Amino acid sequence: MEQISEADIFGVIGEDGFRRLVSEFYRQIPTDDILGPMYPADEFEEAEYRLRGFLIGRFGGPQTYIEERGHPALRMRHAPYELTIEARNRWVEIMDKALNAAAFAPEVDQLLRPFFAQTATFLINRWE
Ligand code: HEM
Repeated sequence: MEQISEADIFGVIGEDGFRRLVSEFYRQIPTDDILGPMYPADEFEEAEYRLRGFLIGRFGGPQTYIEERGHPALRMRHAPYELTIEARNRWVEIMDKALNAAAFAPEVDQLLRPFFAQTATFLINRWE
């Protein structure tokens, strides 16, 4: 199989690929019993824009997110939320389903799936 690096992903799936992934992810959030209540109900569109922009910049696309929001500082930005292992697992489960729906090429999928799982683990801030 062809090998690519993380920075090549934007070139392969483009803005449209990230748009499809993140919209499928956020489509599932509002009705989720654990995650739904954590997200600001009137700001799903903005939240979708932020996650998409972050991912585009992280994987080789334009740096619009950093220009608008500054350093991602994800642990700091998630500090207000009770990020338990349960919440982490649910987030990863929903993103896995969104990745299934997006059906990216295997070389892209193989980089994105572990990235989301590892980043989500790194964000856990409640261990009880
Ligand atoms: C582990 C489970 C996670 C939970 C429960 C969670 C929850 C949230 C919530 C409630 C927000 C606020 C929505 C907003 O106003 O933008 C948010 C923002 C955000 N999350 Fe997560 N998140 C999780 C994991 C992740 C992961 C794995 C990533 C990266 C791959 C990520 C990236 C972001 C980004 C970029 C923002 C916007 C930050 C900003 O610019 O303000 N999150 N998250």
